Amino acid sequence: MKQTSSTGLSSTEEKDFLPLYGTDYIEFYVGNAKQAAHYYITAFGFEGIAYAGPETGMRDRVSYVLRQNNLTFVFTTSLHPGTPIAAHVAKHGDGIRAIALIVDDAADAWRETTRRGAVSDQEPEILSDEDGQLGISGIRLYGDTVHLFVDRKQYSGLFMPGFRKWDPGFAHGSTGLKYVDHCVGNVGWNQMNKWVSFYENVMGFKNILTFDDQDISTEYSALMSKVMSNGNGYVKFPINEPAEGKKKSQVEEYLEFYGGEGVQHVALATDNIIETVRELMHRGIEFLKVPDSYYEGLEERVGKLEEDLQPLKALGILVDRDPEGYLLQIFSKPVEDRPTLFFEIIQRKGAKSFGKGNFKALFEAMEREQALRGNL
Ligand code: FE2
Repeated sequence: MKQTSSTGLSSTEEKDFLPLYGTDYIEFYVGNAKQAAHYYITAFGFEGIAYAGPETGMRDRVSYVLRQNNLTFVFTTSLHPGTPIAAHVAKHGDGIRAIALIVDDAADAWRETTRRGAVSDQEPEILSDEDGQLGISGIRLYGDTVHLFVDRKQYSGLFMPGFRKWDPGFAHGSTGLKYVDHCVGNVGWNQMNKWVSFYENVMGFKNILTFDDQDISTEYSALMSKVMSNGNGYVKFPINEPAEGKKKSQVEEYLEFYGGEGVQHVALATDNIIETVRELMHRGIEFLKVPDSYYEGLEERVGKLEEDLQPLKALGILVDRDPEGYLLQIFSKPVEDRPTLFFEIIQRKGAKSFGKGNFKALFEAMEREQALRGNL
């Protein structure tokens, strides 16, 4: 007999209502998409793929689509003052507007999530051109951020209808970045559990890890974090909220400068973190530095590593181990003048966790930067 819950759905339906197959793309709203695209091509190693703007019939904005392996970033800027994109940039500075997820059916994903309480941002639409049909829809997330649902099984074009091929005529080669490992949101005081419930109830995610203010605190400040994962683990969203400390938490600094809640960092996976980080640094990406003492007795703390210690130390790469293996990670400084969005570069060697053993060293490094800005 079919078990029916209070939502009127059978337990099998509840389990599979939102299959996700990874991150389709991340869209940034920025003040100058032309220059942002140049930076991500030159420094991060993306390739120019597609373009939309007045020449393609898009009157109010310009978008550049960049790709590196399974990573797709879109940079969008408003052509006029007074548009929602211009308002987003005025309020937040450059930042992430949309995290687009790959689904089987965008209309279905929208129906299933909105009936569970999601607020619609974009009603389901089928976009078509000579390369086929693409389904898209969207729901609102924390702050002014949204999740888009994209189904592109019937579409063979470069990105989506409305875009044309774009070759900027220059490229600097890949830095080995492969895909989005996870995407972290910063939310306001006491808002973490609200968004945990959102991911559980609206998206069907599970809370796979919890860090309290004891886990994530330094002498001065603290935060709390819960990691949400979808069923197949392809999509993971940790959610941070500030916690009381002697001084201002890094999450509070973010909220103040971003003008509210938003994406704090995106973790980009690589198969060779030493080569990737060496190349990124060479191209001008700045990373947080932990003290040399971090590397004293590292293998006693985290076990034997396949990598040489010397380049890890020289580059400032951090290591942590969990029961399933280890991971290597490093964090960039914010990539805008506002101390808001930054990137993590991560290489997993079995480990499925997030580097809890590094939190203290890392947050102390962040606080040194925060103090330099006068915001601690
Ligand atoms: Fe992370």
